[in-house]
Amino acid sequence: MPVDISISKPPIEPLHCELLRRTGVSVNVLRLDKCHPQLAGNKWYKLKYNLLEFQQQPDLPILSFGGAYSNHLHALAAAGKLLGMRTIGVVRGEIPEPLNPVLAFAKEQGMSLLPVSRGDYRRKQHADFLDDLRIRFGDFHLLPEGGSNSLAIKGCEEIASLLKWQNADSKQLVALCCGTGTTMAGLINGLSKIESGSTPQVLGISVLKGDGYLQSEIMGQLQACGCTDPTDWRVDDTHHCGGYGRSNPALQSFLNEFAGFSDLPLEPVYTGKLFYALFDLIEKGVISAGTEIVAIH
Ligand SMILES: Cc1ncc(COP(=O)(O)O)c(C=O)c1O
Repeated sequence: MPVDISISKPPIEPLHCELLRRTGVSVNVLRLDKCHPQLAGNKWYKLKYNLLEFQQQPDLPILSFGGAYSNHLHALAAAGKLLGMRTIGVVRGEIPEPLNPVLAFAKEQGMSLLPVSRGDYRRKQHADFLDDLRIRFGDFHLLPEGGSNSLAIKGCEEIASLLKWQNADSKQLVALCCGTGTTMAGLINGLSKIESGSTPQVLGISVLKGDGYLQSEIMGQLQACGCTDPTDWRVDDTHHCGGYGRSNPALQSFLNEFAGFSDLPLEPVYTGKLFYALFDLIEKGVISAGTEIVAIH
């Protein structure tokens, strides 16, 4: 049984504003968020090949992990419902009562929610912890936190073929935000397989605090998938605004200002930090005139 979820081709939309006109940088936005109402953003690409594999044994539930605001559990719950497969979400810490919108949606889709203490959650990859879950739920398909594994990288490779450029002579830059780095590793691997004269540079904006952490994570993921000749890529560690899920006055005022000239929906955890970083790097001249950016939303 193949994955049977209908996904639309994400459009690429130009962004216009005074900063871009003044600096001679162009930004086009790849709207992955428009590809499906519930599997939006990178979620479809991360889940696609995992779902195909799980559908070989459709009677087993899919179990995965996330925090109380996990976009991943939200998307997995929706995919399970669409495919008629059971899903189990192991939630870090307490489940809020009443449920927040993410968990309320997941429950509505039929996901069974299991809260575990933060201590237990840290043991989520340990065999004894997984054995306990199997005693409780029976056998299941295991999907890591964030859906990040080699099949997710394979799915994210497909994002490379969605990139389109206006000007073949421009300095081409693809920019995206990174949590686990899986989407970026897939994109880099996908670009390395495209046969064309020039490949764009890839810039990942880390939403986490930790100097060099994502750079080495992504390097490890590229090695694991045998990507030996990647396109030029780097991670910016300086726009996390305090760390994962944290914000600061600079990010807040950027988001307010951005909402004044664009109706592109940004949220403060991922995409807000991507555009905050890009605008800062453009303003400072780190990204220079003549650069054409495709930002993955
Ligand atoms: C909108 C958005 N962009 C980027 C990411 C980060 O992706 P990754 O964990 O593959 O780095 C996420 C989280 O999954 C996300 O929700």
